[in-house]
Amino acid sequence: MQETILILDFGSQYTQLIARRLRELNVYCEIKPWNKPGELTPNIKGVILSGSPFSVRDEASPQPNLDVYRGKLPLLGVCFGAQFMANNYGGQVLPSETREYGRANLSFVNSNSTLLKDVRENSQVWMSHGDTIKKLPSTFKVICSTEDVEFAGYEIEDEQTYGIQFHPEVFHSEDGKFLLKNFIVDICKCKQDWTPDSFIDVTIEALKKQIGNDRVILGLSGGVDSSVAATLLHKAIGENLYCIFVDNGLLRKNEFEDVLASYKGLGLNVKGVDAKSNFYDALKGEADPEKKRKIIGGIFIDVFDEESKLVEDAKWLAQGTIYPDVIESVSATGGPSATIKSHHNVGGLPAYMKLKVVEPLRLLFKDEVRRVGTALGIPDFIIGRHPFPGPGLGIRILGDITAEKVRILQEVDHVFISSLKKWNLYDEVWQAGAMLLPVQTVGVMGDERTYENAVALRAVSSTDGMTADWSHLPYDFLAKVSNDIINNVKGINRVTYDISSKPPATIEWE
Ligand code: XMP
Repeated sequence: MQETILILDFGSQYTQLIARRLRELNVYCEIKPWNKPGELTPNIKGVILSGSPFSVRDEASPQPNLDVYRGKLPLLGVCFGAQFMANNYGGQVLPSETREYGRANLSFVNSNSTLLKDVRENSQVWMSHGDTIKKLPSTFKVICSTEDVEFAGYEIEDEQTYGIQFHPEVFHSEDGKFLLKNFIVDICKCKQDWTPDSFIDVTIEALKKQIGNDRVILGLSGGVDSSVAATLLHKAIGENLYCIFVDNGLLRKNEFEDVLASYKGLGLNVKGVDAKSNFYDALKGEADPEKKRKIIGGIFIDVFDEESKLVEDAKWLAQGTIYPDVIESVSATGGPSATIKSHHNVGGLPAYMKLKVVEPLRLLFKDEVRRVGTALGIPDFIIGRHPFPGPGLGIRILGDITAEKVRILQEVDHVFISSLKKWNLYDEVWQAGAMLLPVQTVGVMGDERTYENAVALRAVSSTDGMTADWSHLPYDFLAKVSNDIINNVKGINRVTYDISSKPPATIEWE
């Protein structure tokens, strides 16, 4: 069984970041709600207690039973986790009198502590807490401090138990990665053998066993997740994987043809379905964003269902669900709240299809999906592509949708995206696209007065789409793109650039 570090989640905004840091060190880990930790199997090599929005002094705060782990497995408490251990075993935690938020510098009390190997004295760490440990239990020994925090880190002699009040997982903790490595490699003795290649080997074997000779259908979207899921499955079950790629008429310019060709190049058994007119007919005259989404989702299911019926005796539906969608995160009320989303392209399939679901990527973060995809030989233009919403250009054409509006927006989007690539800016932004605005504006071209459409360009930096900043693209670039759009795309005489961040704005306009 795969060596695993168990991360008990107490609701910190940084819990997923801890997991990502461990995975970057090629050690597999799983996040579990503190009150649903699962069985303590022999493959679990150590336990990390996360931070929390709670104070250990709150009555409603999480109260894990640490005796299950303490002394039996290496234990690392981070922030709330460290404070909880100190408080629970006879120390004292009180509201801090000084500000313990932001940057601080470490001074060592015991530089021989294994946890501090390779961490530089005086290196910067990131603090983020309102409480502080005032007194340590007698067996807990301080290993490092900061100017304001006496017990920044501690260990328990003769036990592999550690606590730190700062956050090693955030970028601002300069040597945090060493500290985490010390814990998982030197203390927990993990072998660092969780790599894209090992994941691929293990997953292919598991898929072969799980699926046998059954037939599987999968809806490809052109995005990274479904492409990687399909390629893995193809390696496991070959021609028994039936991929369906639907052209909803709301994709980017040439996307359907280009992506279909590369899927075929990868050897996938894929059927491209041109359903443009089904979507345009159903969307006719509809201007409400949520209704448009529902129509697009509904027609997708109809088309997918029809196509699936042609695959006789299919038993499985494969989905590209990834780890952030399946982690049960602890909510502000302290209990686990499931944040399970359905994959946008195949979510809500009719119950009568009665297919079993297979999700080969459900344990991977997005960056890991990309690394696995590269190891599988999927071309960079699929691996590195920006996120693109399921309803596609349908929610970037403000108001009702027509084939002509789609054509105009595809041209605008194509100029913008290909220019980003040409100027080496594509990989710098997280997502980019164009919106066709339902306004006409006056312009002048040659001696003629024009009255045509305006478009808005949008490019953002983000890590997960939950928050986003508008990208500060160079003026020269924006000037050139604006010129190219107005000169080349018939029907457009004005280009604007969206300088709103999320929140309060959103990434899409609809
Ligand atoms: P917002 O506009 O909410 O977008 O800031 C956040 C991210 O989600 C994408 N998005 C969607 N994806 N179906 C999808 O599959 C949708 O209906 C949808 N709406 C927004 C958006 O492109 C961005 O990446």
